[in-house]
Amino acid sequence: MTEGSEATVAAAHRVEVALGERAYHVHIGPGVRAALPEVVAGIGARRVAVVSARPPEWTPDPGVPSVVIPARDGEHHKTLGWVEELCRRFADFGLSRSDAVVSVGGGTTTDAAGLAAALYHRGVPVVHLPTSLLAQVDASVGGKTAVNLPQGKNLVGAYWQPRAVLCDTEYLTTLPRREWTNGYGEIARCHFIGAGDLYGLPVQEQIAASVVLKASIVADDERDAGPRHLLNYGHTLGHALERATGYRLRHGEAVAIGTVFAGVLAGRLGRIGPDRVAEHRSVVAAYGLPTALPAGPGSDAGALIALMRLDKKATDGLTFVLDGPRGAEPVRGVPEPEVAAALADMPVGDAGTGGR
Ligand code: GLY
Repeated sequence: MTEGSEATVAAAHRVEVALGERAYHVHIGPGVRAALPEVVAGIGARRVAVVSARPPEWTPDPGVPSVVIPARDGEHHKTLGWVEELCRRFADFGLSRSDAVVSVGGGTTTDAAGLAAALYHRGVPVVHLPTSLLAQVDASVGGKTAVNLPQGKNLVGAYWQPRAVLCDTEYLTTLPRREWTNGYGEIARCHFIGAGDLYGLPVQEQIAASVVLKASIVADDERDAGPRHLLNYGHTLGHALERATGYRLRHGEAVAIGTVFAGVLAGRLGRIGPDRVAEHRSVVAAYGLPTALPAGPGSDAGALIALMRLDKKATDGLTFVLDGPRGAEPVRGVPEPEVAAALADMPVGDAGTGGR
């Protein structure tokens, strides 16, 4: 551990993702990026390629010779072309299999750098330093890496577990408000898949609880064959809304609306009562997230249903993760008229946020 980092890092949360020989820790707290040299030394890497979306003062020195490659942050840069460019830069630097890649940025950076690490030399160790709330609570943990194709999001990827994740909450101090609400979309949906009520806790605790939940689900089902589908609570409609609005809605905002919808649909199907349906709306609203379908293409039921049929998890008709007597679980083959009726029950417009 580097000098001066012990106190802050000791105050951090440490969550294990228990995956046998691929197990690793997620460190959460202010200043945990200072642990990077220790993590790199533990891997035994002699050189490091740092892919960073942050300015130099926020990009920690890995303690070994390194090259910093400025990241192209943003969904439209999550392409195979960018992954090839990263691999070329790794090769120019002479990165070998006994070295490592470090990503510093939001989910689009950890996704692309993670995939480049998975592919380069058939796999080099990667350490993620997620800098957005959304990446800290979800994207950087669990080993999913991917880039987009014109045909859809995250269509080309690999499971490549990081060797460590350093969720430094000091990165969050510079986030614009919309990035906070974006992350809260994923935290709000945790309420309905086993994390309980996280509203009002300090953000470090909210991140830790979300990561503990995700770590246990990933340890159960690394390759998304069943239990991991739970993490997609609110995502079936969420993904459709992202596409229908041309990504004008951020992922977390779309998941928030999708979470409210999951409650409405579960209520229509008699899986939960009116109080629990209302709880979906009040939890989402409490985090300052939208609860209504956006006006325009984002409220066209026919278009949304067509997009939901394309969902990667929709192997058997329209598929949703829905709350019910046994808790949340995937429900396949939901009749289209029920989905259309639930969409019709949703409010439309920019309103829909409020206190709790
Ligand atoms: N973000 C969903 C998952 O990691 O499975």
